[in-house]
Amino acid sequence: MEERNKTLGEFIIEKQGEFQYSTGELSRIINSIRLAAKVVNYKVNKAGLVDIVGAAGEQNIQGEDQQKLDVYANEVFIQTLINREIVCGIASEENDEFITVAGSDKGHNNKYVVLMDPLDGSSNIDVNVSVGTIFSVFRRITPIGSPATSEDFLQPGINQVAAGYVIYGTSTMLVYTTGHGVNGFTLNPAIGAFYLSHPNMKYSETGNIYSINEGNYVHFPQGVKDYIKYCQSEEEDRPYTSRYIGSLVSDFHRNMIKGGIYIYPTSSKAPHGKLRLLYECNPMAFIAEQAGGKASDGYNRIMEIQPKELHERAPFFCGSKKMVEKAEEFMANYK
Ligand code: AHG
Ligand code: MN
Ligand code: MN
Repeated sequence: MEERNKTLGEFIIEKQGEFQYSTGELSRIINSIRLAAKVVNYKVNKAGLVDIVGAAGEQNIQGEDQQKLDVYANEVFIQTLINREIVCGIASEENDEFITVAGSDKGHNNKYVVLMDPLDGSSNIDVNVSVGTIFSVFRRITPIGSPATSEDFLQPGINQVAAGYVIYGTSTMLVYTTGHGVNGFTLNPAIGAFYLSHPNMKYSETGNIYSINEGNYVHFPQGVKDYIKYCQSEEEDRPYTSRYIGSLVSDFHRNMIKGGIYIYPTSSKAPHGKLRLLYECNPMAFIAEQAGGKASDGYNRIMEIQPKELHERAPFFCGSKKMVEKAEEFMANYK
């Protein structure tokens, strides 16, 4: 079959063979995420209509209250995974504690845990700008049959078996990796199927876009300030273009396709950075590396950080390899 006509469903079945001793559990997780993504996509697309349609009474008839979209997305992803009995635990940016999941037989017999940021960039919803969902999958460390513990969630990113994101944009895409490259699928909303539109996605070695919230400039570490000045200086292929949406998924997606660097550094206001290591940095780092890019905290590889707590934050430098290396050079001057 021509690559371009392939649906995500077909792709998942085809790739199952890549996993030795696979029981299909991971494939079923990706399938569930695909389903939840369609449900959330439907809601995100209607976001601007909620008040209008609500005024006509639709909300009351259906008996559903208007919910904040990140709470809604959180529930959809969690319920979809729980109902299918395919994970033993879920951690979400929206929940203080992780959830343990028992099957209908009351056993905790599944092998995987999922961590997620159900709606990333949620402050952009009100202004009709793209948002996303980020997910990360680990094999559990604790024995099968027992409830998942924090040990299963607090694993370094190098242990991830899959990671991906959904971008609810001008078109909706699901992009993911299972450690064999990165593939992107675009939703055809008319028939509700994701098609392989971006096979084997790759960062260019270098690029000309830098993405950082420059409004915080005065609070940034000196290495970041110097790197920004470097991006803006008129030498070689510079100055670079500045692009910042304020929704990690969207900024990352653009940079991966066009070549660029995304930085969310520490600052005097946010001494550990803002992004969450487990729900944002690790999954994006896995995708970046699988696409030939690089992700660090300014000094060290993101995926080698040993997490200490669920909602831990980390500074994030991610994108085209040469650009991240250059930013690290500047950081090293002030180590
Ligand atoms: P979330 O909506 O999940 O809380 O994440 C928002 C994050 C990320 O998507 C984005 O890159 C960053 O916050 C933007 O932060 P600033 O507004 O501080 O630039
Ligand atoms: Mn987020
Ligand atoms: Mn979020």
